[in-house]
This record gives sequence, structure tokens and C-alpha cells, in this order.
Amino acid sequence: MAKIKTAIIGATGYIGSCLLKRYRYFFSDCIGTGFSNNQENLITFDLRYSDINELNLEETGHEAVIMAAARSDVAWCENYKKESYNLNVKAILKLAKQLEEKNIQLIFFSSDYVFDGRVGNYSDVSEVNPMTEYGKQKAEIEKELPNITSNYIILRISKVYGTIWKDNTLLDSLTGSFFKKEPITVAIDQFFSPTYIDDIVSMTIYAQEQKVRGLFNLCANNAYSRHQIAQKIANELQFPSNCLQISPLHLIRGMKNRPLNTSLKCSSIFTPYQSSFLSIDNAIKIVAKNWIDFVGKKNITNSLVLGE
Ligand SMILES: NC(=O)c1ccc[n+]([C@@H]2O[C@H](COP(=O)([O-])OP(=O)(O)OC[C@H]3O[C@@H](n4cnc5c(N)ncnc54)[C@H](OP(=O)(O)O)[C@@H]3O)[C@@H](O)[C@H]2O)c1
Repeated sequence: MAKIKTAIIGATGYIGSCLLKRYRYFFSDCIGTGFSNNQENLITFDLRYSDINELNLEETGHEAVIMAAARSDVAWCENYKKESYNLNVKAILKLAKQLEEKNIQLIFFSSDYVFDGRVGNYSDVSEVNPMTEYGKQKAEIEKELPNITSNYIILRISKVYGTIWKDNTLLDSLTGSFFKKEPITVAIDQFFSPTYIDDIVSMTIYAQEQKVRGLFNLCANNAYSRHQIAQKIANELQFPSNCLQISPLHLIRGMKNRPLNTSLKCSSIFTPYQSSFLSIDNAIKIVAKNWIDFVGKKNITNSLVLGE
């Protein structure tokens, strides 16, 4: 199927950088933008103040834009409501209007935080009821974007992780904490739908190629708590599970108003592919091996590493 030339706004971020890498495989001149961490081959673009015309999207044959730029630190959004709203809502809706005028598609990443977390297993059409400012901002985009353009895809995602050593995503950072003998406090009652980054990238391209429009949950099949994931990592590494400190989420500092069960039901457009998504068990094996290989190279003895 023909690939669609797509620009990535927020290409220095985790998801944006992985998307850009894949799109540049098809179109080596795909535009990517950065902001405070800009890099070579990317255009500096401040979503709040820059003009979309600076990107010359039409002249360079781009037919779509993926919005991977945001400030998604939940605590920061809570503390800086106005600043976060200006970026996460106002600037994005302004850009959506400009893209609509140019007939360029917008792909936006929403979050499982649009839900209050009381029941879990939320579908594409479940009623949203955000508990946090970040969730409210995502919910506002979900509501307003269809009023601006019909040429959009919203992918509602949960925690995204990778398997590259020191990528500092969910599994890597938890595994690293075991090796560094850091205290590991994990919530026992917060459930979400962790999803592998390459599956997010492939399914984003798939949705675009299928020419679907609308809002779709995109996630792996099973929901987990951090405790369950950390326990699986401990088992893989053969660490004693008493190195985990288990806590209800709302007793962990700064986590009081967080939703508890935001697990998602994947949209039916992706379910034919869901069985081929990387499972958390296989991802843990890869990440554990990364760390074991690294520690092995450093000649640290097993007993030291295992904290015995
Ligand atoms: N990662 C997840 O698990 C997850 C889960 C659910 C939803 N999402 C959503 O998916 C999207 C991408 O997430 P991510 O984890 O890849 O985010 P990220 O790693 O935090 O990256 C954020 C990106 O936004 C850019 N940015 C920040 N302020 C900007 C500004 N004023 N103007 C232009 N760009 C700006 C950053 O640029 P610089 O770094 O150059 O400053 C960076 O490229 C976000 O909308 C997020 O809410 C992510």
C-alpha cells in the first residue's frame, strides 16, 4: 500500500522520534520538528508561536502531520494549568485549523487519562471523565478536533514502552532500578495497557493507510499494574520479590488524584493485528537480557548485581 508522506511535530520526543525514523525510511526528506532538544535534520518549531507555513508542508508534498508534541508530565500540567493548556490544547487546535485549510491530515495521540479509572477496559466510545488536568486537556482535543476537521485520526494510547537498553521507558527503567538496587515502590491497584512502541508506529501507519477517520483506542491486549510488571521482571531476573515495596497508588507521593484503572479495549480496526503485538513477557525477556549483558560486560559479579 502507498505510504503517505507525513511530517512529525515533536520528533525529538519518544514516540515522535520512533515515528520519524520509520517515515524517513519511506521518505528520506520527511519533516520532523524539535523544540528545546533540537537536533540536526530537524526544524526548530515552537508549537505555541510558530506558524505552520514555516514548515512548507505543501511545497514538499506532505499530506499528513503527526502531532507528537505535548507536555505530558501529569504533575506539571496540574501545577501549570494555563501554560500546559496553551500548548496541549490551544496551540494544537490552532494548528488543526491551519491544516484543515491546507487539506492536510492530522494524527493526534490522546491518552487513557481521559477516563476516571473506575471500571477499566474502556472502548473507543466509552464516556470520558478525566480526573487530572492532563486528562482534561486530552479530552478537550478529542471533543473539539471533529468540529474543526474531518481529516483526522485520534489514537488513544496507554503507557508506551520500548526494549532498547537505557531508553528509560517503563520496562527499562524498572529493570534498571533492580540492578541499581534502588528502592522500587510499585502501585498494586493501578491498571493500564502497556504497548510496545514499534506496534504503535506500525499501527499508526496502518490506520493512515486504511484511510480511517475518527478516534481509535490503540493498545496491547492485556492490562497490568506496575506491581505485576515489576514482579514479572523480578521473576525473570531471579531477584527476590521482597525488593519491591507495594503500595496503593493514592498513598504514593503526588499520585492522589490519579485514575486507577485506565485499561483500554483496543479498537476493532487493530484487533486483527493485536495477536502479533509484542507481549509484555517477551518484552521483559529482551530488556532483562539487555541489562544482564551490560552488567556482564562491566564485570560486575552476579552477587553484587543481585544485591545479595
Ligand atoms: N509516551 C507515552 O506513554 C504516552 C502515553 C499516552 C499518550 N501519549 C501522548 O503521545 C504524545 C507523544 O508522547 P511522548 O511520550 O513521545 O512525549 P515526549 O517524549 O515528552 O515528547 C514531547 C515532544 O513535544 C515537544 N515539545 C514540547 N514543548 C513544545 C513546544 N512548545 N513546541 C513544540 N514542540 C514541543 C518536545 O520537544 P523538545 O524535547 O525538543 O523540547 C518533544 O519532541 C503526547 O501527546 C503524549 O501526551 C504518550
